[in-house]
Amino acid sequence: MSEQIDNAIRWATDLIRNCSESARLDAELLLAHCLDKPRSYLYTWPRQNLSESCWHDYRAIVQKRLEPTPVAYLLGSREFYSMQYTTTVDALIPRPETELLVELTLAGIDPDSKSRVIDLGTGTGIIAITLKALRPGIEILATDIDAACLDLAQKNATQHEVTIEFIRSNWYQGLAREKFDTIVSNPPYIAANHPFLEQGDLPAEPRLALTPGQTGLESLQQIIAQAPNYLNNTGKIILEHGYDQQAAVADLLEAHGFGEIQCHFDFNDLPRVTTAKLIEKPNPRA
Ligand SMILES: C[S@@+](CC[C@H](N)C(=O)[O-])C[C@H]1O[C@@H](n2cnc3c(N)ncnc32)[C@H](O)[C@@H]1O
Repeated sequence: MSEQIDNAIRWATDLIRNCSESARLDAELLLAHCLDKPRSYLYTWPRQNLSESCWHDYRAIVQKRLEPTPVAYLLGSREFYSMQYTTTVDALIPRPETELLVELTLAGIDPDSKSRVIDLGTGTGIIAITLKALRPGIEILATDIDAACLDLAQKNATQHEVTIEFIRSNWYQGLAREKFDTIVSNPPYIAANHPFLEQGDLPAEPRLALTPGQTGLESLQQIIAQAPNYLNNTGKIILEHGYDQQAAVADLLEAHGFGEIQCHFDFNDLPRVTTAKLIEKPNPRA
């Protein structure tokens, strides 16, 4: 027997509540996907009967959600900064918190700037692609250690018709000794034994994208320590980090020659992004 749209959503919401804090939204997104309609359709036609095949598909995809498979992997896409990105199990699912990092980076780049930017650990490519789409004059290079992430990021770049140079690299290792005006990164930063890694959808996401090691600070340490070698004088660094890593990140930046260190808060009022500027070295011949 088939079901009405509103009943089907209620049924799925009750089940999904066991594995998600956004059960109703998940249920709606999955049904809209099965119907191949926008979410608004569900509110316009709540009493419409689902076809047998749609009801069958919906039950199957809700079962997958309960495994739990994240909605972004089931739909194969996720919105970020009002742009749609293809998502696969190879890469971290874009997070709304990362929009803060993009916003702060955009604020520091003039609309007609031709500056050189590097995105370290690009994953789906969201940071590099959004920056290039909104500041087309910049030259941007994006790296990841994972080849599957780079394939996905290239696919997303092609989809959004932007040109980005992608390089497989362990942080800076695969780069020539070149200089950038801005370094941006949302590196892995969760400590390897943190219980958070076992919660919600996180077990379904790549560990490489989530945790860099025992302390959670390993990637941030490497990125910051080598950043001065890859930045022009007064170049900027913009880093996403854990809400409890603000002080450690600031200390690392200070120890490696950065000033104007500022921490920024996300929409939950948590310290999540730090920006800093390389302090200009005095010219020894002056
Ligand atoms: C937290 S995810 C961020 C992905 C994407 N930038 C975003 O904001 O959604 C971290 C990314 O860093 C990559 N990564 C992990 N270790 C790396 C390393 N040693 N060198 C380069 N990239 C690395 C992972 O593959 C992953 O794509």
